[in-house]
Amino acid sequence: MQIREIMRSCPVMPVLIIEKTEHAVPLAKALVAGGIRVLEVTLRTEAALESIRLIAEAVPDAIVGVGTVVRPEQFAQAKGAGAKFAVTPGLTETLAAAARAADMPLLPGVMTPSEAIAALEMGFDALKLFPAEQAGSYGMLKALGSPLPQALFCPTGGVTPESAPKLLALPNVGCVGGSWLAPKDKVAAGDWDAITALAREAAAFRK
Ligand code: 3PG
Repeated sequence: MQIREIMRSCPVMPVLIIEKTEHAVPLAKALVAGGIRVLEVTLRTEAALESIRLIAEAVPDAIVGVGTVVRPEQFAQAKGAGAKFAVTPGLTETLAAAARAADMPLLPGVMTPSEAIAALEMGFDALKLFPAEQAGSYGMLKALGSPLPQALFCPTGGVTPESAPKLLALPNVGCVGGSWLAPKDKVAAGDWDAITALAREAAAFRK
């Protein structure tokens, strides 16, 4: 599956920080039950790689990817665990080469027009605007749309259920990313129904 197809599969890509491996499968199932199939599991915890493995094995309807990739070896590690795509907070030649070597679809982070052009030169035309809020979010995306119409964005960072529909209405926004679908307290409490309800609300946003 290519990145644009993955972006088309969900209006909201949840950014997941999984602290305990036992949360991985119920969390993924709760999101999928609400209609959110694309899951970005960030490499910010000890539990992340094993969580990807567990989700890939036990939740076939999920499209699980790896996020917060900042070192080249992490692409192959995450692919080995079952990740179908990768997200990085920024882009370097080293990361681009490693993603290619691992044959891993990549959604690279950019924050400025020059970074977006550099990513396009490297062959990436689906980009994460990160951190979206600090980069200007709606106004920035609208401004980038005219000179760089070939770039499709997933703004992430500071996006909320209130701001998401307006962002999704922009022609150069394919989906948005956000952590609000898996609040820390709800995950810790195992309140999967609450997470399914948040997913259902997000899945109803229209591109
Ligand atoms: C992150 O890196 O944590 C993502 O950008 C999510 O940001 P958010 O918590 O503002 O949704």
